[in-house]
Amino acid sequence: MTPPDDDDAPAQFASPACLMHEVDPAYMGNAGPALPTPETLARLGGVLLRDIPDAVIFADQGGAIAYWNAGAERIFGFTAAEAVGQSLDIIIPDRLHARHAAGFNRMMATGQATHPPEDILSVPAMTKSGETLSIQFTVAPVTDANGALTGVLAVLRDATATFAELKRLRAALKSRDAR
Ligand code: HEM
Repeated sequence: MTPPDDDDAPAQFASPACLMHEVDPAYMGNAGPALPTPETLARLGGVLLRDIPDAVIFADQGGAIAYWNAGAERIFGFTAAEAVGQSLDIIIPDRLHARHAAGFNRMMATGQATHPPEDILSVPAMTKSGETLSIQFTVAPVTDANGALTGVLAVLRDATATFAELKRLRAALKSRDAR
């Protein structure tokens, strides 16, 4: 009886993963959707920050505005030059300054939001001309390469028309029920 040659040896799965499989899933014939390259992701990130019609605002650890996109200019009426360096209080009604500051400072101290990330905060906001808007926003902490907190990024949407419509519908329901 001749000893088994290499072809008869049981398959070995303990060898380190072939680098090629990590680099190119198509190599194994199981190509998923093509992943965006880092360059594409960077370009998409730029569009998301600059060009999306929602307001995108970054505030530093002290709560000073450090980034203010064109959407924020359109919604709140302050240009980026006017807003950058100012406190977020320029768009927050006086009666909410303390609650916002408490929430903001807590997040800066702990790195944690009190609301789950999917919670959308609905609050009134002030424009440069003194108009009151209903806005909805989400926030995310931003860290540097060492994991240290550098501020908070927020995406805010003007929901004034939606809230006005809700109010109108509620009033219509109430007067129908009263009949
Ligand atoms: C009109 C604009 C805004 C108003 C009226 C407002 C108001 C508030 C209020 C009332 C809270 C407390 C919520 C709670 O305790 O349940 C809060 C929390 C917070 N706000 Fe603002 N805010 C505004 C804009 C912003 C912006 C632009 C940022 C960031 C760039 C921001 C960052 C935060 C953070 C990080 C919290 C804590 C959230 C959490 O812990 O889950 N806010 N804000």
